[in-house]
Amino acid sequence: MPMSALTNVVDDRIWSLDRPVWFSGVRLRARTTVVRLDDGSLLLHSPAPPTDALAEQLRALGPVRWLLVPNCFHHLGTPEAAAHFPEAQVVGPASARNKNKALRIHVDIHGAQFGEQVAEFDVLPLLGVPFLDETVLYHRPTQTLLGADIVLCAGAKDHWTWRYAARMLGCYERLRVPPDVKKKIPDKNAAARSIHAMLERPAQRLMVAHADVIEEGCRDRLAQAWRLEGVEV
Ligand SMILES: [Fe+2]
Repeated sequence: MPMSALTNVVDDRIWSLDRPVWFSGVRLRARTTVVRLDDGSLLLHSPAPPTDALAEQLRALGPVRWLLVPNCFHHLGTPEAAAHFPEAQVVGPASARNKNKALRIHVDIHGAQFGEQVAEFDVLPLLGVPFLDETVLYHRPTQTLLGADIVLCAGAKDHWTWRYAARMLGCYERLRVPPDVKKKIPDKNAAARSIHAMLERPAQRLMVAHADVIEEGCRDRLAQAWRLEGVEV
């Protein structure tokens, strides 16, 4: 898939871009989500390193105002994206900065500033899982939950390496907590409260980094994935 292939998810508001990433010997799809905000500007969630063609395509949709790093893993494309869009603010967790010295974070995702400046989002930290240090966004205008690694699901569109591994790991066509996260939930009560806050939102869809867009039963499926790990939601 060319790097400039934006897929429409919600008319005039949300687009998705998949790119291949190799991780632990398998080829996953990793998603960048583009949200057009109420003021017409764009937020890039988990930014891919943009080609010139993609950067041009994005600029045609609106000025890129925010580059969002959702957890301490999905930061790799952000420095390159920031170089293409120097006017954008990078929002993310300090834990990502610790892993990527090229990353410059302007706004701490755990502070109040981001939610105050972009009031159309509910900012929902996943507590109890410091391994990920993820923050999920709920976009109220489109009733969309935006995450990265809180759950994943392999499917027919995936590369054979990931389809094969996912069958062994139990996440082929099943929404699950990622295998490397399952054993790293030291505070299940805090995680339960955080997932509960996500489930309280009337979400019509869930978009994460490594799964197709999830619409049908998205909240039930999110809850079920975490219940399997002993998180009582
Ligand atoms: Fe990921």
